[in-house]
Amino acid sequence: MKLLNVEQIKSLESSPKVVKLFSEKEIKMMQDLYDALPERRFNKKQNVRKKGWVQNYNKELDKIYMEKLKEVLGDFKMDSLKSDNGDDLYGLFHESFAPLPLHVDSGFYEKNVIYKQVVTPLSSYGDTVIFKNKWYGKSTSFTIDEEELKFLPKNEQNDRSNKHLGDEEFDREIHKKYLNHIDINNLKGLKVELIYHWKLGETLIIDRTHIHCSSSRIDKKKLGVTTFTKK
Ligand SMILES: [Fe+2]
Repeated sequence: MKLLNVEQIKSLESSPKVVKLFSEKEIKMMQDLYDALPERRFNKKQNVRKKGWVQNYNKELDKIYMEKLKEVLGDFKMDSLKSDNGDDLYGLFHESFAPLPLHVDSGFYEKNVIYKQVVTPLSSYGDTVIFKNKWYGKSTSFTIDEEELKFLPKNEQNDRSNKHLGDEEFDREIHKKYLNHIDINNLKGLKVELIYHWKLGETLIIDRTHIHCSSSRIDKKKLGVTTFTKK
């Protein structure tokens, strides 16, 4: 699948941005909300537990979150995630026990004008590595493993692809320090745009088209919440 509105999507793109959006108290409210929410999915293979941000558990926090996102993003809509009763989820909490592989969260619908994704760390150790390279197809996990490439995704599962690859060898120092959970040959042609070091109280905003992954630096687990937006 190729996204249909690539020109419009490109016109909305901007450099990654780190902003201070939420107070200590608000971060604590998000951590508490995570504990209160029911589990949505536990992906054994990736070792990540996911919970959707269902509205009305903490109405005060819902309101604060939406208002602050509007402040930095302007007009936007939530993308694709719905609760069981059809309401928009405000985001996806992800608690990971192992570093996440190389991927893009560009969504599953070719007509969508995808916009920004907003990542708020709820734990303070680890990094997100954002590459300059972008992807204008659907959500994809990038791999050079021939078996993995045969995977046929069902509805709302990531494609597998090796079409991200270029010719140039990836930087060995960066690989050693941050990306040793990924085969260096799976990073050929990629250039780092930003290595964001997770810090409580900060929020990272990137384009949905950025190829990214977590770094290999993880201290038992990482907790964050991500909101995927479209126009
Ligand atoms: Fe992601």
